[in-house]
Amino acid sequence: MGQQIALVAAMAGYRVKCHDVSEEALRKASEFVDSYLAERVAKGKLTQGQADQARAALRFTGDLAEAAGDADLVIEAVVEKLAVKRQVFAELDSLCLPEAILATNSSYIVSSRLADATRRPGKVCNMHFFNPALVMKLVEVVKGPHTAQSTVDAVMEAARKMGKIPVLLRKEVEGFLVNRILTAIRNEALYLYETGVASYEDIDTAVVHGLGHPMGPFRLLDLTGIDLSYHVAMERYQRTGDPAHKPSPTIVEKFVRGEWGRKTGKGFYEYGGERERG
Ligand SMILES: NC(=O)c1ccc[n+]([C@@H]2O[C@H](COP(=O)([O-])OP(=O)(O)OC[C@H]3O[C@@H](n4cnc5c(N)ncnc54)[C@H](O)[C@@H]3O)[C@@H](O)[C@H]2O)c1
Repeated sequence: MGQQIALVAAMAGYRVKCHDVSEEALRKASEFVDSYLAERVAKGKLTQGQADQARAALRFTGDLAEAAGDADLVIEAVVEKLAVKRQVFAELDSLCLPEAILATNSSYIVSSRLADATRRPGKVCNMHFFNPALVMKLVEVVKGPHTAQSTVDAVMEAARKMGKIPVLLRKEVEGFLVNRILTAIRNEALYLYETGVASYEDIDTAVVHGLGHPMGPFRLLDLTGIDLSYHVAMERYQRTGDPAHKPSPTIVEKFVRGEWGRKTGKGFYEYGGERERG
């Protein structure tokens, strides 16, 4: 995620330094950027000059002080682990200029769980991109109770300058907007399937042709990974203790069978070679 956000910002004209603790991740990110820009030029989507400009605006470094020392805005996209993010925010707080904004790209961790690791809570918020960040337009900006309005305004403006469409959540809520709506649709689809009302194929067909979604909830589950849905639900259940948050029987069954979707060749649908069987 981080490499794509860095490239989006560089292509929008920002000077960007992309940091990772892993040399391997940095090497892969640099290779990705080179191949992506070359491909865009070959397809006529970018001029060679635009590609060169974006590449020159983007640097990769394993040194956090070098990466963040003079930044106006830091977008954190490290692993989805609270302890790691809190450590990174504490380090950033000591390395960054006092006026720098620290935003997290986390999909689930609200920034109030990070802000108190810093001495600048007013300058901390969520800035949630969607995958793949180079393609997806939406950015969810979440204002925590600690976040200053000027921080939110600056982050919304930065998202617009990056060619994105930002939406503002005026208060923190688990899952933000899109993941909450997606979860509600997914849970209803699983309920209708598990109670025998319709097949998963027909539920997908109904959502595609009745609601105009590009794909139905079961095909989307296959795409995002049934293992991910299982882990997210289990994590939530362990945190809340609410049985309603347990993964549904179908998700548990598919998870145990190793039928995780596209990545394993089978989920609700089968994937193999050129043809997709449903
Ligand atoms: N993958 C998605 O679809 C998606 C979408 C939106 C938001 N996000 C969020 O983006 C974040 C990253 O997700 P991802 O899928 O890119 O994860 P990932 O595991 O692919 O990448 C995380 C990177 O963080 C690096 N890292 C770990 N500890 C670090 C540290 N202390 N300092 C610097 N770098 C460190 C790792 O080396 C790795 O390269 C998460 O918070 C996730 O919720 C992911």
